[in-house]
Amino acid sequence: MSGIQIITRLYRSYTKKFLSKIFLSIIFSFMVAGSTSAIAYLLDPAIEKIFIEKNKILMMLIPIAIFIAFSTKGFSLYLAKSILISVGLEIRKIIQMQIFKSIVSSDLETMDKKHSGKYIAHLTTDVSMIEKLVTDTILLLTKDTLTLIGLLGVMFYQNWKLALFAIIMIPLASIAAKSLGKRMGKISTQTMETYGVVTSYLLEIFKNHKIIKIFQREDYENQRADGYLENLKNKTIKIAKVFIRTTPIMETLTGLMIGGLIYFAGSLVMQDQLTVNSFFSFLAAMMLAYQPVRSLATLNIGIQQGISAARRILPIIDAEIKDKNVDKDLIVTNGSIEFKNVYFKYNNKEEDTLKSLNIKINGGEFTALVGHSGAGKTTILNLIPRFYDPSNGEICIDNQAINNFSLKSIRNNISLVSQDTSLFDDTIKNNIKYSKLNASDEEIYEASKLSYCEEFINKMPNGYDTIIGENGVRLSGGEKQRLSIARAMLKKSKIILLDEATSSLDTEIESKIQKAINTLTKGKTTLVIAHRLSTVINSNKIYVIDNGAVAASGNHEELLKKSALYKNFYDKQITKK
Ligand SMILES: Nc1ncnc2c1ncn2[C@@H]1O[C@H](COP(=O)(O)OP(=O)(O)OP(=O)(O)O)[C@@H](O)[C@H]1O
Ligand SMILES: [Mg+2]
Repeated sequence: MSGIQIITRLYRSYTKKFLSKIFLSIIFSFMVAGSTSAIAYLLDPAIEKIFIEKNKILMMLIPIAIFIAFSTKGFSLYLAKSILISVGLEIRKIIQMQIFKSIVSSDLETMDKKHSGKYIAHLTTDVSMIEKLVTDTILLLTKDTLTLIGLLGVMFYQNWKLALFAIIMIPLASIAAKSLGKRMGKISTQTMETYGVVTSYLLEIFKNHKIIKIFQREDYENQRADGYLENLKNKTIKIAKVFIRTTPIMETLTGLMIGGLIYFAGSLVMQDQLTVNSFFSFLAAMMLAYQPVRSLATLNIGIQQGISAARRILPIIDAEIKDKNVDKDLIVTNGSIEFKNVYFKYNNKEEDTLKSLNIKINGGEFTALVGHSGAGKTTILNLIPRFYDPSNGEICIDNQAINNFSLKSIRNNISLVSQDTSLFDDTIKNNIKYSKLNASDEEIYEASKLSYCEEFINKMPNGYDTIIGENGVRLSGGEKQRLSIARAMLKKSKIILLDEATSSLDTEIESKIQKAINTLTKGKTTLVIAHRLSTVINSNKIYVIDNGAVAASGNHEELLKKSALYKNFYDKQITKK
């Protein structure tokens, strides 16, 4: 998208909604322009009538008029700015919300591509730049352009020859600043990328704090941080330098102009073509014009920064949500699942991760997947709620190809207990409730009882209202697992996907978790990635997954007899508790 297209897009999507407020701010801008010009103009009668003619009445009136002009300027400037600030913040929130929605609803494939820190940078810094583009540009374009026009009017009124001389300087100033704008767009893109890298790095540090400690990599990380921050510092310095580079240019040009002007004005006075009062009024107008000229000259810099931020953000906002079948709902009755000749490849991989996979899971039954690490078990699980879509073949739930139905209706019927339990830094109750926000307290208590959470929750100082920390750091591994089972249980969905945790727990907790799982999966279609003997023995059917395909299937006894791979796997990997 070109710069103009981006600005049009920003205008249509955001600015347009606030036209009436913006219009109001433009009216105040007119008042700023009018009062500023009045100030410059009033110096003419002030000098002529008061100092030269010594008029007593005007000696009272002109200072009052000057006072009124200044206060009008102040108040209208305040109002014009405050209206635009609130418009800017509204727009900022709208954009942030759009990015947030896009992140929350984007599919896993998109999220895999970029570090979360980059998204944080988009949400904070990039959005600020767009906000500035929207508000500053409007303010500068209206207030400063109008003020400049008014002041030029005064200048021409006082002496057109002098005014023509002064006006030559304006294009010079803007040419100098224009080239800076382009450069600024480029550097600011680089800076934002660096900013994203720094945020991503920080998130990694927080997540891996323990690992840093045990491997004693504090110095190493300090060095890395120093590198990233140094880079960020240098980029920011570059931006600041380009920005203030306008100062010497503008000051030099102003000096040149005023010097030349005094010479030129002097010669006009000597030829009696200019009076002293006109000259002072003219000079005041010109000095007051300095600020708007300077702002207008640097306007391009802000515009370029905003455009480059929009270039990064708009694709995220516009990202198409994969779900094209929002209206068609999947009806789950029996809960049978079938993989028909399914192929799947991760975007960043050369090879297919799943190859010609055929699996049949009967409704209400307990089916297990076993296989070596990296065989593709979690991948298979991920395809059922459509976290990813197969590249070939189809997956059916109750004989309906899930690709044709809304994500909402599919996921509505599925519960997931993942390998690495994910919890929120919130109360225990809210964590359980996450699967059913309107659950009654009774339902929550029941779910936590059935999942053996009750005993540890009751020991907590605040019971169900205890905050568990980031991803549940204040809970033990087994407690976290039981909590995530309680959460899954509350949903009462027809299909349950379970990625059994590989970490082994003590026998007592283990058997509790086992019982909790049994309660959870009773009468439900369950697909579990099994690591434990008790799980595989419990299964109606087991699929042995090898290298992305089914190597054998059957129950535990059958497989022990017919599959060497299973036997080997059973001997070496399955925890026999
Ligand atoms: N998000 C991803 N992007 C790219 N490749 C992936 C992704 N997730 C998994 N893979 C790859 O797909 C293959 C199968 O991974 P998967 O997680 O399904 O294995 P698994 O059978 O669940 O193993 P484990 O028992 O260790 O959990 C692996 O080679 C892995 O590197
Ligand atoms: Mg796995």
